[in-house]
Amino acid sequence: MIVPFSVRFRGEERNTTSRSDLLERIQRLKREKKAVILAHNYQRPEVQDIADFVGDSLELSLCAMETNAEIIVFCGVNFMAETAAILNPDKRVLIPDTNALCPMASMLPADLVRLYRRKYPGAKIVLYINSLAEAKAYCDAVCTSANAPEIVNRMDSEMVLFGPDANLAKYAQKKSDKKVVPIPQYGFCPVHKLFDRDSIMLLKQSYPDAEVMVHPECDPEIWEVADFIGSTSRMYREALTSRADKFIVATEIGLLHRLRRDRRDATFIPAYEEAICVNMRLHTLEKVYLCLRDEKYEVRLPQKIVSRAREPIEFMLRNRETQR
Ligand code: 13P
Ligand code: SF4
Repeated sequence: MIVPFSVRFRGEERNTTSRSDLLERIQRLKREKKAVILAHNYQRPEVQDIADFVGDSLELSLCAMETNAEIIVFCGVNFMAETAAILNPDKRVLIPDTNALCPMASMLPADLVRLYRRKYPGAKIVLYINSLAEAKAYCDAVCTSANAPEIVNRMDSEMVLFGPDANLAKYAQKKSDKKVVPIPQYGFCPVHKLFDRDSIMLLKQSYPDAEVMVHPECDPEIWEVADFIGSTSRMYREALTSRADKFIVATEIGLLHRLRRDRRDATFIPAYEEAICVNMRLHTLEKVYLCLRDEKYEVRLPQKIVSRAREPIEFMLRNRETQR
């Protein structure tokens, strides 16, 4: 089926093209410009399909660090693209839509991190990768949902301040030996707040054999009904290796595309069909094309932030024996 798009091509007669034409143009530009497209597991299916690599936040950071490409087109929210830019000062990191922000990251401004540092001078500070680059500049280590308890455990203090996700802080507290204090007290992901325990219980009644997979950003009462808790890519690997053939999935529904594509024999049931991160979905094929064609929008951060934020991110990447 030919799907028309309304992209306006500079210096060209027509202003519509087919999807296959668009895909071809993206592939050609990628080759010509030695670019790589990285996409988060929550991206639109068509963006995941054009990407060179699809993964969770940790995998995308590792991939950004390892790539030889000269340009990285980052289809994810801005903290992810910023992390890629911090790790690759000699590469150009582009983001197709600059409005792709993570509301949870904005819940912890850098000034608040500095204030907590003064309030608890003996504590170390671990920030979830879903945080602002300016905030990362004042922390001791960064973590993702794939490694939060391990990174917290590596801190040489009894007390660890953890933000901005209070649920991930509770999860790290549960799985580590430290006293974990959430900063701020109630930071949260608006998408993962949408899951409701009773609705999941009803789904479990309809699909009694289904394995329930839950992201740690969900509330603890949702973890309690889970068979598996992990980052998006950990859920993906669990689904690929599990004996179950039905899964109830409590995370943003974008992950279901990859799950359904790579485990065709299994049924994946979203725990809530409207768990959609609108910010992640801002990137479209048209914007990916324009981003590559015009080499916009480049992620640029002040040098002071880059040099300060790099060390806590690298700390996480160095301590990666249990990761991926
Ligand atoms: P993952 O690192 O598990 O992919 O999660 C990122 C995220 O933003 C979850 O909301
Ligand atoms: Fe941020 Fe939540 Fe969207 Fe993840 S799903 S990017 S935490 S708003």
